[in-house]
Amino acid sequence: MIGVLASGEGSNLQALLDAGLPVCAVASNRRDARALDRARAAGVPIRVFPLEEHPSRDDRDAAMAAWLAGRGVELVVCAGYMHLLTDTFLDRFPQRIVNVHPSLLPDFPGARAIDDALAAGVETTGVTVHLVDAGLDTGPVIRQEPVPVEPAESLAERIHAVEHRILPEVVGELCAH
Ligand code: GRF
Repeated sequence: MIGVLASGEGSNLQALLDAGLPVCAVASNRRDARALDRARAAGVPIRVFPLEEHPSRDDRDAAMAAWLAGRGVELVVCAGYMHLLTDTFLDRFPQRIVNVHPSLLPDFPGARAIDDALAAGVETTGVTVHLVDAGLDTGPVIRQEPVPVEPAESLAERIHAVEHRILPEVVGELCAH
């Protein structure tokens, strides 16, 4: 069973749902995340864990991990989740947390990877799916796919299309193991 963490639009969550993967819980740090509407529409239970409602980041992550584990989650997918996870959370799902990132890591980590690649003038960027550790977009790479930067106007759209194809593939493979 898969738990998804999302902070925003939720198009990668939608790709997982559309692929028929067993998503049984969606958690967010933001009440207004569009991802929550997508989960609701698919009949998937949701819970919001705003940082300001918990004494510390560690307490928030402990509560979030407990909720997911209680719903039978064994694999966690960060799909546009914009907070780092503490050891409390990481230790609850060892080697079973994956993230999708819009660059060829270790190039362009962080929240502005597509803009950063454009600003750097590289010819090729891409998509990475990797295991999550305590760092910012670090952790062992599971799969990468290059994407040519030009035409730059459509780069974001082409990167998201690759994300929506390879994330469900990798998650499906991990579910089988
Ligand atoms: C994606 O580009 C993902 O790689 C990055 O944040 C974005 C999330 O998009 N981590 P969405 O919320 O899945 O639409």
